[in-house]
Amino acid sequence: MTPPPDALSAAGAPPTVAHPAGPLPALRALIAAGTITPDHAQELAAEKLQDLWRRTRGYEPQTEPPDSGGFLGRFFRRKAVDEAASEAPLGLYLVGEVGRGKSMLMDLFFASADVARKQRLHFHQFMQQAHRRIHAWKQQHGDTADPIPPLADSIVAEAALLCFDEFQVHDIADAMILGRLFEALFARGVVMVATSNTAPDDLFRGKPGRDAFLPFIQMIKQRIEVLHLESARDYRRERIRGLPTWHVPPDGRAERALDAAFAEMTGDTPAAPCKLTLLGRAVEVPLAARGVARFEFNDICGRPLGPADFLAVATHFHTIVLDGIPRLGPENFDKARRFITLIDALYEHRVKLVASAEDTPDRLYERGENAAMFERTASRLVEMQSQEYLALPHLT
Ligand SMILES: Nc1ncnc2c1ncn2[C@@H]1O[C@H](COP(=O)(O)OP(=O)(O)O)[C@@H](O)[C@H]1O
Ligand SMILES: [Mg+2]
Repeated sequence: MTPPPDALSAAGAPPTVAHPAGPLPALRALIAAGTITPDHAQELAAEKLQDLWRRTRGYEPQTEPPDSGGFLGRFFRRKAVDEAASEAPLGLYLVGEVGRGKSMLMDLFFASADVARKQRLHFHQFMQQAHRRIHAWKQQHGDTADPIPPLADSIVAEAALLCFDEFQVHDIADAMILGRLFEALFARGVVMVATSNTAPDDLFRGKPGRDAFLPFIQMIKQRIEVLHLESARDYRRERIRGLPTWHVPPDGRAERALDAAFAEMTGDTPAAPCKLTLLGRAVEVPLAARGVARFEFNDICGRPLGPADFLAVATHFHTIVLDGIPRLGPENFDKARRFITLIDALYEHRVKLVASAEDTPDRLYERGENAAMFERTASRLVEMQSQEYLALPHLT
């Protein structure tokens, strides 16, 4: 697998270099260079982001004096906290369908934002970090002390501007802490920008406990302006449409094609290994960026992973780039079984697959346990290369 810096020079998705004059000039420069197509809805969003860029220049939240205890100390602390919230610039919540350029726009903003402490992270990653810190804090201080204020303090110490990619709330454990955590963050003057497929009013809809979640939605709408990115085009789909998704054989040429596909889908967002943690275990992802993961066949089918792990992969990533699917036989029926389960999960969640393989799907596993079952896998693999399949939205 070529290291990401080389893959990046293969061009593709637009770069997100900092522009000294802000995200709107950055977007216009990409259009002028012919790197991206002009899009009215994106321009409107970039104008909003430009406005926020201006309002956050040199932004530093008013940090409250350390609690000196006593009534007056608490009184002044409360006052300082309220002022920090009311003086902070309103954030922006970019909502729209997939492939509209939400992450690209947020990245242009983030790269040029002139804020000393800023962080851009996947929302899921942020929540995992929050749970880990709460857990560690409780181990030190016991269950009765409130972990939220120290958690908020530690987050603010790292970032006055938080940019969340793919804001989403699926999990009751997240829903339960979000209200108080965000309240504490806003009170400390944190500015938030987010991208999401879900409007705030639809977050956590239909889930048990939604009523208790509604005040959180109200708070979001007070502190973050919601902007619908109404672009008519799914640029991601257009990008993958031009790409062959099945490369035979898995030689150097195929590897370069997969490098280019990965670069096309991720732009110059630095790719890095990551872990998906689920109940007491972790799935190691060798390389990931912007919802795209890259695996060697053995990374994912040569390890003792099961349906729950594949499900986590299929919901977390919209695209998988998979290197080197071998021809399988009776001696590696276990790898074949995992591959069948993996493809089922990817297919059911409409994950896009770009792969290199030793052969066409129908000839990958002709003899061995479950070989009959593999016929369905082969047929799914063929369907997954179709334009119709590639156009389907990812189901998370
Ligand atoms: N106006 C455009 N012209 C060409 N490509 C674009 C344009 N806007 C976005 N893209 C590309 O389309 C892909 C999807 O954009 P992304 O920002 O990831 O979408 P979203 O976050 O809305 O799902 C990315 O590779 C991005 O660089
Ligand atoms: Mg995105």
